[in-house]
Amino acid sequence: MLVHLNGSILPAADARVSVFDRGFLFGDGIYEGIRAFSGWVRNLDDHIARMQQGLDEAGIGWDASHLRDLCPQLLKANGLRDAFLYWQITRGTPKPGQPVRARLAEPDIEPTVFGYCLPQPGVDALCEPTTCTAATVPDLRWHKGHVKSTALLANVMTAMSVTEAGGEEAVMLRDGWVSESCSTNIFVVVRTPTGEVELRTPPVDDVSILPGVTRKIILEVCPEARVCPVSAEELVAAEEVFLTGTLTTVKSVIRLDGRTLGAGVSGPIARGVLDRYTAYLREQIAAHGS
Ligand SMILES: Cc1ncc(COP(=O)(O)O)c(C=O)c1O
Repeated sequence: MLVHLNGSILPAADARVSVFDRGFLFGDGIYEGIRAFSGWVRNLDDHIARMQQGLDEAGIGWDASHLRDLCPQLLKANGLRDAFLYWQITRGTPKPGQPVRARLAEPDIEPTVFGYCLPQPGVDALCEPTTCTAATVPDLRWHKGHVKSTALLANVMTAMSVTEAGGEEAVMLRDGWVSESCSTNIFVVVRTPTGEVELRTPPVDDVSILPGVTRKIILEVCPEARVCPVSAEELVAAEEVFLTGTLTTVKSVIRLDGRTLGAGVSGPIARGVLDRYTAYLREQIAAHGS
């Protein structure tokens, strides 16, 4: 595998980062996970905008629009068209003689830029939602969920507690409201008091979650979906619950806290959402793919 490190493309085994890099010591960095389908880098502008916002809030001086050149370069170097691309920008490594443990970095520090990509199946493989079991757990993370920080210890510990509870994925609750999962956003299908079926996903700021690019596309292709808070009670009564993410695509929760949801298979709404999502991908590939 060839990776990108600070402007060079080189074999992963030859890529070297200092042990004093603040990404290693502090988790002081911002990352993005991106998908390419048939050579088209999915919604790259959205990934760039999200990464730039995170970098700006963190005060890391890097222009995320470099990804416009770096993504195709990395794909080409690895001979890939259907792939997952990972980019990580850390605040960098203090220069010799500069303090290593200072929380406030020296102003002349230079960001470390790292990227890798891995082959993935093409759009034709996304024919039905995958499925999982899940457990509800408290959302223990910080209140800047919209910043895609490389410091993921809380997510790792949450994933471990879910495994202990006998589930595969987390459904996190913040003060009694559904937030997201460890690496995905959450959609629920609820039946309203008037008997209507409604597709909902929580708002980004209310529960401090990541504005997922997959979530954004789904909201575009499913205009009937509502962005509105989802309570723990609505979650328990939900007819369907599904997770969305760049790599996960659409994953139906078929058991939640040991209770089977619906028929115990991915439901009709999740299937419909996946169909519309893949139709969107196909249109975009036809327009932009290579
Ligand atoms: C916490 C969290 N929520 C949601 C998502 C989904 O975002 P996207 O659709 O942009 O992959 C991710 C992706 O990594 C994530 O880490």
